[in-house]
Amino acid sequence: AAVDAPASDLAGLRVAVSTGGTREPIDPVRFLGNRSSGKQGVAVALAAADRGAYVHLVAAHVDDGVLHEALHHPRIAVERALTAVEMDAAMRAVSDESDVVVMAAAVADFSVPEVSDVKIRKEDGTFALDLVENPDILIGLVEERRPGQTIVGFAAETAADDGELRERGIRKRSRKGVDLLVVNRVGWQEGFEASENAVLFVDATDDVAGQASGTKRAVADALWDAVLRLR
Ligand code: CTP
Ligand code: CA
Repeated sequence: AAVDAPASDLAGLRVAVSTGGTREPIDPVRFLGNRSSGKQGVAVALAAADRGAYVHLVAAHVDDGVLHEALHHPRIAVERALTAVEMDAAMRAVSDESDVVVMAAAVADFSVPEVSDVKIRKEDGTFALDLVENPDILIGLVEERRPGQTIVGFAAETAADDGELRERGIRKRSRKGVDLLVVNRVGWQEGFEASENAVLFVDATDDVAGQASGTKRAVADALWDAVLRLR
């Protein structure tokens, strides 16, 4: 634990953070999921709360151990939202009373429109999954942005090199309309369960406004520094 007096440059700020991967049900025993651990989003919540903000953390699938410290933090309220539709409702509700919204969750892009009430059995023969696109929560939040609110998105991109990563980040920032996009490279070996991360920050000038690497907590503190520069 840090022995320094906590920085309080976010004192009084009301923050909403989403984290973890959503799980879209197929039948009572199966789901469509992704590899997000939720660690980076939890670190974003902890960093904000340690710097004095009030944080509403909306967690999709996150292991209890990863969430533990947040569950016991005096300035963090944790709410569960396991599917994209649940997360859409939870984030819309909390966004109304937030100065800053950070969508760090890995939201499934598609879900199964007709969830089977009974377990699908292989003796029923082969089957195909019909998928429908989920609401884009971040775009919805930007459309209903309140005055003075800062909205931050994340992007996980596979990219051949730094130039492609940068281009993808810039394109996604403008498509989403967020104030800040945190871009990180993912692949079979990078980005997910690791405790370290490396990101680019893209802002509305459509350029790389900075970068950060190190522990997910260090990246989280750099994110809040970047948000403060924008406000
Ligand atoms: N996001 C969201 N709702 C979705 C999908 C994504 O709010 N249905 C948010 C994520 O939380 C993240 C940002 O949008 O902050 C970017 O997510 P990403 O998956 O990188 O972008 P997509 O727009 O889904 O595009 P694609 O996956 O095709 O690259
Ligand atoms: Ca996506």
